[in-house]
Amino acid sequence: MAKILILYYSRAGENYVNGKIQSLEKGNTQICAEYIQKAVGGDLFRIETVAEYPADYYACTDIAKEELQKKARPELKEALDSIDSYTHVFVCGPCWWGTFPMAVFTQLERLNWKGKKVMALMTHEGSGLGLGEKDLKKTCSGASFGKGLAVQGAQAQESGSRITAWAKKMV
Ligand SMILES: Cc1cc2nc3c(=O)[nH]c(=O)nc-3n(C[C@H](O)[C@H](O)[C@H](O)COP(=O)(O)O)c2cc1C
Repeated sequence: MAKILILYYSRAGENYVNGKIQSLEKGNTQICAEYIQKAVGGDLFRIETVAEYPADYYACTDIAKEELQKKARPELKEALDSIDSYTHVFVCGPCWWGTFPMAVFTQLERLNWKGKKVMALMTHEGSGLGLGEKDLKKTCSGASFGKGLAVQGAQAQESGSRITAWAKKMV
């Protein structure tokens, strides 16, 4: 039987939604991660950084860009050290400058991926999966990969049935 882990990063606050800045109470990726759990069960684990990103959208994009350029690995409030008890791992996050936020890689690089089945879900405002899936494949060595899913952030709330169908196919 599949033992499922849903790792996700998501940032509430100001974001770019359908061409406008809006303040989100709950991040788009969190909405999607919760849909996955509702569909297939499993444990949710939220990746959170010690240093909070600014709620201001543009200030956040500046920091995120610098982190990407430096290949930063921001410190996490809490990190998982083992995924030995899981068979399937969904890795969910927003597209930040074309890939997952660097904090996602801080977490992924701590883990042994051998024999795991890994699926990417990325929320975005136009870039789709970007380089997210490719970067995941580089990072999670020894894993096999299901086909990733891109969800436009502005559509997260309405994407429950699409996410459910995809998640069920993956496990
Ligand atoms: C720092 C930052 C960088 C972003 N870069 C991109 C991008 O390169 N491509 C894109 O389509 N959307 C980009 N976005 C939009 C987010 O990917 C999108 O709003 C996402 O759904 C946010 O998810 P969250 O609410 O779970 O954090 C960016 C947003 C932020 C805050």
